[in-house]
Amino acid sequence: MTAESGDAVAKEPPRRPPGNCLLFYPIPADDEPDTQAPPDAAHAPGADRRTHELPRPADRPRAHHESLVQERNTTMTSLNGATVLVTGANGGLGTELVKAALDRGARRVYATARSPKEWGDERVVPLRLDVADPEAVDRIARQAGDTTILINNAAVYPKGDLLTASAEDITTTIDTNLLGPIRLTQTLASALRSAKGALVNVGSVLGWLAIGKAHSVSKAGLWMATNAFRLELAPAGVQVLGVYAGPTDTPMQAGNDPAGMNKPSDVASAILDAVEAGDHELFVDELTTKVHTALSAPVTALYPALAQ
Ligand SMILES: NC(=O)c1ccc[n+]([C@@H]2O[C@H](COP(=O)([O-])OP(=O)(O)OC[C@H]3O[C@@H](n4cnc5c(N)ncnc54)[C@H](OP(=O)(O)O)[C@@H]3O)[C@@H](O)[C@H]2O)c1
Repeated sequence: MTAESGDAVAKEPPRRPPGNCLLFYPIPADDEPDTQAPPDAAHAPGADRRTHELPRPADRPRAHHESLVQERNTTMTSLNGATVLVTGANGGLGTELVKAALDRGARRVYATARSPKEWGDERVVPLRLDVADPEAVDRIARQAGDTTILINNAAVYPKGDLLTASAEDITTTIDTNLLGPIRLTQTLASALRSAKGALVNVGSVLGWLAIGKAHSVSKAGLWMATNAFRLELAPAGVQVLGVYAGPTDTPMQAGNDPAGMNKPSDVASAILDAVEAGDHELFVDELTTKVHTALSAPVTALYPALAQ
């Protein structure tokens, strides 16, 4: 473990969540400003980052565990000639993933969505898919059985607290963000095995930070499902990439100030770089890396209000 990663956090937990991530997500009305924020809070990721440029892959911060054991898949998955399936393809990141896959030479892209649209490119096959509908997911094995790279990208982010959320909202969130990707991976597992292809699950920093409430619950589950699939698919040579990102300028962030957010085209490019590099995990931004590192600190490191 390096000095600037887990060690440092464990000895002196930050008083604020790393990065001022709360700026980007709903802040509870009774949240008092932290007057004892460390002097470097103004330089936290997101606070002063006005550029939309993501670091190049070589400069991108790595997860602290990657410095312990830098292990990559022995197989790297090329996009050139691949058949890629993207869920939620009409969304902010989904659209950029479709475009980036085509730019890198994908042979075919299944652009799946609840309301599929024409893309004006013969390599794109629009398919109707509600990932929360198990029967629709089952049909995908017949419609897209030649998929070599599956990107579970679709998600919902309901507003409101977990204590008061309706059963319907919670069920929809878990169905869409967790059970959908699990079912789709099960459905296409044999295709991925035959191709020695790749599974990409788009998680979130909110899988480690409860301010996303039901969304956080679902993304925490997806994090572990991604690890379980990694273990189960590794013997067949299938790469499993978990993607974790902070605030990104897409419709999911509608109404929030986009300054300092990731650009979806940069995130899509970073995801495909990570696929082609054979990575297990992608921590898209510094905020995400810091929050992940803080998981090994006392819980008050991420939730300073609990320490008061
Ligand atoms: N934006 C961020 O700040 C951020 C940060 C970290 C991670 N992420 C993750 O990035 C991924 C992409 O999100 P985004 O930011 O691009 O948001 P977005 O623009 O809202 O896209 C989400 C897409 O998911 C689709 N979707 C929702 N429920 C679905 C269902 N049941 N079946 C099929 N598709 C469904 C939506 O389809 P409709 O068009 O039909 O509604 C939409 O196209 C998500 O996994 C999200 O959690 C986003």
